[in-house]
Amino acid sequence: MLTPADTDPDFGAQRADIWTIDVGEFAADSVLLRSFLLPDELERHARFASRQTANTWLAARAGLRFLLGRYLDENVRALIIKTGPNGKPFVENHFQLCFNISHSGSIAVIAITDRDVGIDVEHLERQVDTVAVLRRFFSPAEQASYAQYQQTDPRCTFFRGWTRKEAVLKATGEGIAGLAHNEISFAPALPHAMQTYRNSAETAHTWFFHEFEPVPGYIAALACQSPPLQIKHNRLHSNMLFA
Ligand SMILES: CC(C)(COP(=O)(O)OP(=O)(O)OC[C@H]1O[C@@H](n2cnc3c(N)ncnc32)[C@H](O)[C@@H]1OP(=O)(O)O)[C@@H](O)C(=O)NCCC(=O)NCCS
Repeated sequence: MLTPADTDPDFGAQRADIWTIDVGEFAADSVLLRSFLLPDELERHARFASRQTANTWLAARAGLRFLLGRYLDENVRALIIKTGPNGKPFVENHFQLCFNISHSGSIAVIAITDRDVGIDVEHLERQVDTVAVLRRFFSPAEQASYAQYQQTDPRCTFFRGWTRKEAVLKATGEGIAGLAHNEISFAPALPHAMQTYRNSAETAHTWFFHEFEPVPGYIAALACQSPPLQIKHNRLHSNMLFA
């Protein structure tokens, strides 16, 4: 059961809330989940080629709309989610609330706070040509950082760097176009993991990262360009939506 404190929209204490959704839990509820969506979202849902991707997206979008409704004290179906020029989503007429969402495998994570925020989750089993990705998307300094930290757990180290980089792209809203603007460290659990941001080491230190394991087998990062935040972790269960 959710309490009002779980979705308190007063982020004055520099709080960021992270919600994890395990899509498997929502599998039987597709008709109910669809009732949270607007017609354009239902059209998008119908267009996914893979049923698994469609199911993940549906649970994540329904969960997101449910949570936004609670934080904003609005009817879920009155909320209109729009996207900026590079795809960053926001709630129309509610600019005081910032959020971001990411899905991977059967997991979705949502960050909700009062400042620009980015979040990214990756399944550690995801098949990726790590050598090629490191060469193509990471700078020589980042590749050296990966080499320094990868020994104990190469996959986890790789996706640690990946999620940090993606979370930054999503916080700024630049998307993939911003990839070259940030250089991160692969060192574990490092809140100030940005090494240079737009070629500046000084600006880099304004970035804050929070690394977490939403469920075993996954790694995730939240990124935010502001002083450190208090992070509150939550799990969204299907029975909360339909209580
Ligand atoms: C948005 C992006 C940054 C990440 O997408 P992704 O990793 O495929 O998918 P995720 O599940 O993590 O995130 C998808 C969500 O990001 C959000 N999003 C899309 N564009 C965004 C942007 N410009 N800024 C912030 N959020 C954005 C959307 O809400 C989307 O969710 P939705 O489909 O439910 O609406 C995308 O630009 C991308 O293609 N990234 C790949 C970059 C890459 O190749 N990196 C390699 C190494 S770092």
